[in-house]
Amino acid sequence: MAAEDPIRRRLLRNIGLAAAGLAAASATQGAGGVLPLPPALPEPDGVSPIAERRVRYAGAKAVAGPAPRGLPLLPLRVGEFGYLEVAPTAWERYRYCGSERAPGLRSDYKGDSYLRFHLDEAARLQGANPWYSRRVGDRIHQDDLVPGGDRSSAKFRFRSEGEEGINVLQGVLFAVPHDRLEFTSEAAEEMARDALQVPNLVAYYAACTHFCCTVGHQEDPTAKAVNAWDLLFCSCHLARFDPRVVHADHGLISGAWEP
Ligand code: FES
Repeated sequence: MAAEDPIRRRLLRNIGLAAAGLAAASATQGAGGVLPLPPALPEPDGVSPIAERRVRYAGAKAVAGPAPRGLPLLPLRVGEFGYLEVAPTAWERYRYCGSERAPGLRSDYKGDSYLRFHLDEAARLQGANPWYSRRVGDRIHQDDLVPGGDRSSAKFRFRSEGEEGINVLQGVLFAVPHDRLEFTSEAAEEMARDALQVPNLVAYYAACTHFCCTVGHQEDPTAKAVNAWDLLFCSCHLARFDPRVVHADHGLISGAWEP
């Protein structure tokens, strides 16, 4: 059987993601600016929905393109032997873009919370060959990234062992002194505080708030053409987020599940 064309495979994947995003977007736009809640999702086995609601969060500010909201900060902490973990947090703020039932977004998740170097298929197809290419799957140490230069950012996955597709949780890690971050309001600074516990490191959730593609940093050459090489960039429709500008935002949570 002939091998599947990788471009076609990527296109089909993005169409699927866009369809999921369209469903989420259609639930957020009502007449007269009112944002109706989406219809209730069917209950997964043994799990009940708390509610569908909006939550406030601090994240990388959306600065250009179609994304309506920023990318949520992920709180970091230093675990055993200096390896980085995502700290326990309000997981509901990441339950969008079809990841509502991802096991890693449950507070009773049984696996670990270490950050592991990651390169998704879309980035490979774009020819991305980052400095950590040979370490994909390895845990990330607090000293691996250095502000400025080639080792100042990395894509990672977390709380996703054995998972596939939309259940794989991804983020982008940056090495940046916290005193270089800009907060757009006191509320943003207050909400960001619990996420900024590891000096010189900042992590953002990578699900684009437009139609749910995975955001990257210095992976897609297209970013250079739109002057976004230093920004978080979504290849699907060119959304751009500034990792150095933290903004208080809100998102419509389409499903908040707990036991
Ligand atoms: S999915 Fe459209 S810009 Fe990201």
